[in-house]
Amino acid sequence: MTTAVRKERTRSAQQVARFTGEGAYHGSTRSRPASTSAAQRPAPPPVDEVRPTTLERLAADDRPVILPFDAHFPNLFRVLEELPVPTEEAIQADRVTFVWSPFAEALDQAGPLTRSVLEAMRPHLTGRKRHIYIDSKIQFFAAGDVPVDSQHWHLDGTIVARDERAKRLGHPLLHDMRARLEGPAEPPIYLAYQSSTHCATRFLGAPLDLRLPELIPDFDELDRLVRALDPPALAQPPASIARFDGRTLHRAVAAERPGWRLWIRCVETDREILPDPSIVECYGTVYRPLDRGAAG
Ligand SMILES: [Fe+2]
Repeated sequence: MTTAVRKERTRSAQQVARFTGEGAYHGSTRSRPASTSAAQRPAPPPVDEVRPTTLERLAADDRPVILPFDAHFPNLFRVLEELPVPTEEAIQADRVTFVWSPFAEALDQAGPLTRSVLEAMRPHLTGRKRHIYIDSKIQFFAAGDVPVDSQHWHLDGTIVARDERAKRLGHPLLHDMRARLEGPAEPPIYLAYQSSTHCATRFLGAPLDLRLPELIPDFDELDRLVRALDPPALAQPPASIARFDGRTLHRAVAAERPGWRLWIRCVETDREILPDPSIVECYGTVYRPLDRGAAG
C-alpha cells in the first residue's frame, strides 16, 4: 500500500475533529477496527526493542499484580540544526505527506520543502536500526487547535501489548514502561522537525525520576505526575531538526494563532511497521476543543 498522501492543501479541506484528550494516536485505549488487509497480513517478527519483558514475567505469575518502580527518564533531547523558516505558502504548496513511509521512498516522493528537510536529516541518522520511517503532516491550525488528540506528556514508540496477558490484568492494552526504560534493548531513535513559530512540541531536556507503575494502560497518570513536578520544558525551535528517543517525555500544545505547520518525524527502529489504511486516512486531522466547535 502507498504510505504517501499527495493532495492539495487548503484551509477549507483541513480535517477537523473534536478534541477529546483521549489520544487517538498516542496510547489510545480505543479498540482498533481490524481491517481485512491487516488481518490477512502475517505479523512482523518480534524484536527485542518491543518485547514486553515485564509483562512476560508477570504472565508467568499465578496472581499477577502491577507494581510501582523507580522510573528514570533520561530525556535526551538535542537541537541538531536550525534550517531557514519556510513561508506558509511553501508549506501549503508542498502537498505530499507520509505515514510510516520508508526513508528512501519518502525522499523520492516528497515535495521540495520536505525533501530539503529529509536531506538535512540524512547525515544525522545513526544507522543502528533495521528500518527508517518518515511520518509527516501539513496542517492548518486555527488558534487553539491541537495537532493530535492529546496534550499528555508521553513517550513515542512505547512497548505496547494488546493481548490476553494485558486483559488478564484488567486492561485492553498496556504500555510496558519498565521494559522501555530499563532496556536492555535500545529504544527507537527519532529526528523531529517542525516549521512553526506558533505550535511547537514541548520536550523535557533533563533527567526526571518518578515512581510509576511498571505497566500503564494510558498516559493519564504519567501526565499527572509530570505536571505536578512542573519541570522546565523546551519548545522545539521553528524549522529545527532535533534528536530524541523512545525514553524522552514530550507533549503537543495548542496552536497560539492560526497558521500552517509542516511536521516531520523520522524514526530509526528495529520494528517493521505496516500502517493500517484507517490510520492513513485520518493522519493530519487537527483537534478542536468542544467550546470552540468542530466541523466534521
Ligand atoms: Fe509523541
